Amino acid sequence: TRPSPLAGQSVLITAGPTHEPIDPVRFIGNRSSGRMGFAIAAAAANVGARVCLISGPSRLPTPAGVERVDVETAEQMYQAVLDRAPQAAVFIAAAAVADYRVEARAMHKIKRDNQPDQLSLVPNPDILKAVAGLTDGPLTVGFAAETDDVLDNAHDKLTAKGIDMIAANAVGEGKGFEVADNALTVLWPGGHRELGHKAKTQLAAELIDLVGERFHAAD
Ligand code: C5P
Repeated sequence: TRPSPLAGQSVLITAGPTHEPIDPVRFIGNRSSGRMGFAIAAAAANVGARVCLISGPSRLPTPAGVERVDVETAEQMYQAVLDRAPQAAVFIAAAAVADYRVEARAMHKIKRDNQPDQLSLVPNPDILKAVAGLTDGPLTVGFAAETDDVLDNAHDKLTAKGIDMIAANAVGEGKGFEVADNALTVLWPGGHRELGHKAKTQLAAELIDLVGERFHAAD
């Protein structure tokens, strides 16, 4: 087999959820195990890429040969990614980043008799969009987890974020999050490929092959 176009290239990947603290013991987060992103990191390392995995809170073990940077919040993930993205050849955003954070986190545990009945939220930065906006930045690959109109929404996201590729999948009712398999359709300006329903590890390997092809085509 021929060497992957990603062999020796620097590939930056985000994975997992982010946790947005309310106080030292509570957070707002989402249902992401990190499985898809960790599988992509393993697949990229397997083809010889130099992989840096920026992970939100996840219990998953670090794939062999992968450099891992642990973060908690979207702002920390943004900082960790933007520090490294200018040097990366490819950026794959597989993290399920919380769209909002709590405006004023409490520094001490909020007591039962002192609970606010409203939380004020502010939007988090869009990490993928920021990387896509870099001059001479990496090839950018996003995910679109959708419950409805998956392909239409994914296509809109490809354009709105100005990214090079998007992997679309259906979520909800046992699909997408916290499960071992998934189905992906990958879109880019001018093409698409159906990767079908299979184990996330297999999907990750096929996605990395496809990203390698697009990277080679763009080179
Ligand atoms: O806009 P939406 O969250 O649906 O887009 C999903 C894609 O954007 C995923 O690739 C996700 O990792 C990325 N994203 C990001 N930073 C955010 C929100 C989403 O990198 N704040």
